[in-house]
Amino acid sequence: MERVVITAGPEETQRLGEELVGELEEGEVVALVGQLGSGKTTFVQGMAQGLFVKERVTSASFLLARTYRGRMPLHHLDAYRISAPEELAEVGLLELLPPEEGVTVVEWADRIGDLIPPGSIWVHFEHLDGDRRRITLRRR
Ligand SMILES: Nc1ncnc2c1ncn2[C@@H]1O[C@H](COP(=O)(O)OP(=O)(O)OP(=O)(O)O)[C@@H](O)[C@H]1O
Ligand SMILES: [Mg+2]
Repeated sequence: MERVVITAGPEETQRLGEELVGELEEGEVVALVGQLGSGKTTFVQGMAQGLFVKERVTSASFLLARTYRGRMPLHHLDAYRISAPEELAEVGLLELLPPEEGVTVVEWADRIGDLIPPGSIWVHFEHLDGDRRRITLRRR
């Protein structure tokens, strides 16, 4: 199962995140991969909308993880600053991979690839020209 979508701007990327979250079950993990500014956080904002989160979703980089309350919890992790996967265990974040409640979404998931449970949804973001992004979703 692989889906490839080209979005023309941030709103379309958000809509894709919103659609995806409607198909997820509690306990699932979504792994995001893509360069700086490729649209990962924008996608998470769409997921949050789909879960009726009222808070504004921002970059999780400095906090490593944030949980937003919505229809079910949305755990937002950012592995950008993680230099060794053991750091996640140290700060108690392994219990979110997978989560007991809600769903977990991880930015820079390729940096902690071994810790992403098999069967997770991987989403790759690539810059095309202008505001266009190629977004590839597959379960693996
Ligand atoms: N098609 C698009 N999809 C998503 N974002 C887009 C698109 N076109 C333009 N943008 C802009 O690109 C930027 C994407 O930023 P965003 O924070 O989502 O990226 P990111 O992948 O999370 O970056 P970082 O690696 O720094 O966390 C935003 O400013 C957004 O408005
Ligand atoms: Mg981001």
